[in-house]
Amino acid sequence: MEDLSALEKLLKSGEFLQSLQMERKTADLVFDSRTLKAIYELVSRYRVDYIDYPISSGKESIVFKAYLDGKAVAIKIYKMSTLRFSNIWKYIDGDYRFSKEHLTRSSLVYLWARKEFTNLSECRRYRINAPRPIAFHKNLLMMSYLGTSTRGAPMLKDTEVDFQKTFDQIMDSVKDLYGKAKLVHADLSEYNVLIYRAKPYLLDMAQSVSREHPAADYFLERDIKNICVFFRKKGVDCSMEDSLKYVKPPIKSGKA
Ligand SMILES: Nc1ncnc2c1ncn2[C@@H]1O[C@H](COP(=O)(O)OP(=O)(O)OP(=O)(O)O)[C@@H](O)[C@H]1O
Ligand SMILES: [Mg+2]
Repeated sequence: MEDLSALEKLLKSGEFLQSLQMERKTADLVFDSRTLKAIYELVSRYRVDYIDYPISSGKESIVFKAYLDGKAVAIKIYKMSTLRFSNIWKYIDGDYRFSKEHLTRSSLVYLWARKEFTNLSECRRYRINAPRPIAFHKNLLMMSYLGTSTRGAPMLKDTEVDFQKTFDQIMDSVKDLYGKAKLVHADLSEYNVLIYRAKPYLLDMAQSVSREHPAADYFLERDIKNICVFFRKKGVDCSMEDSLKYVKPPIKSGKA
């Protein structure tokens, strides 16, 4: 394919990286050529102005600040090589929305990005505070950027807030996530909540599952436990049992 070889050349020439204002060193460290191509496609398709610095660099993903129509956005790039099948399969198998798909190694990573996009879209639909999803393409997810012009919003674990109020707000989000969006976050903790404009925003939702998932109750209890343990250390008097009842009210077995 002529187009593809032109693209290969462009990628190799470094011109492309220059246009993204990204250094070759950074790019080589983080990206394989498939990912570079995907970035190129995303950037051209959505007319991303440029990709700025990495906000966070983890084992399985790297998040960049970028600009789209002059506005800051975040682009999360799932690393093709380190995303572990064994770690993520349990969040796909059992979620009827995705479990029927035929998967190869790379399409699994693509599905992971699409799954996060889908889950964030559900949050948007039910007005649950989370980044606004903008697009996904292969192993990339573009979403609204939470933060100021100089720094990304801090994680809950690194902030001083009104802890009682923040706890209540998180529980409201988890309740809406369960009751309205019919999802369980499944990796909720003080690491995956950002404090933005004094409010908690849920983050990192690729692993979030439908509440029909066979392990949904287990994931929900684990989420609530993590949050309670954190807030108890901050002096909030929270009970796991009450929080669970708040999120998932017991079905009344009333007489007819
Ligand atoms: N929309 C966003 N706006 C601002 N910062 C963001 C956004 N999304 C992610 N971040 C930053 O990137 C970090 C990592 O994001 P996230 O939790 O979604 O990825 P992760 O799956 O935990 O990555 P890894 O497992 O590789 O560490 C967040 O803690 C936050 O600092
Ligand atoms: Mg995270």
